[in-house]
Amino acid sequence: MYKILLAITVVSLIIMVGGMTAPAQQTGSGEMDMEAAKATFESYCSKCHDVGRALGKKKDQAGWEKTVTRMSGYHKRFGARIPEEDRNTIIKYLVEVAGK
Ligand code: HEC
Repeated sequence: MYKILLAITVVSLIIMVGGMTAPAQQTGSGEMDMEAAKATFESYCSKCHDVGRALGKKKDQAGWEKTVTRMSGYHKRFGARIPEEDRNTIIKYLVEVAGK
C-alpha cells in the first residue's frame, strides 16, 4: 500500500513540475530565436511592401495583432492566409523590435 501511495505521489509531482515548467519556456520572449523570427517576418512582410513599412511603426501587442491579422487577410492573394504559427512568430517579433 505504502509503495502505491509513493508511486502516486511521484507521478503527480512529475506532472506538477511538468505543468509548471512548460508555460515558463513559452513566455520567455528572450528565448525566442530572433534570427528565425526575423526571417519569417521578412519572408511574409516584404512581399507587398518594404519591411520598413512595418518597422517604421511602433505598436503594442494588440496593435500588432490587428495589423498582422489584416495583412494576413491581404496575403490570401498569394493563395492563403499566413499560417497561425508564423503569424504568432511575426507578432512576437514585432512586439520585440517595434513594440511600444
Ligand atoms: C498581400 C500584401 C501584403 C502583405 C503580405 C503584407 N502587407 Fe502590410 N500592407 C499591405 C497594404 C495593401 C497596405 C496598405 C493598406 C493598409 O494599411 O491596410 C499595408 C500596410 C501596412 C502597414 C501600415 C499600416 C498600419 O497598420 O500601420 C504596416 C505596419 C504593415 N503593412 C505591416 C505588415 C506586416 C507586419 C506584414 C507581415 C505580416 C505585412 N504588412 C504584409 C499589403 C501587405
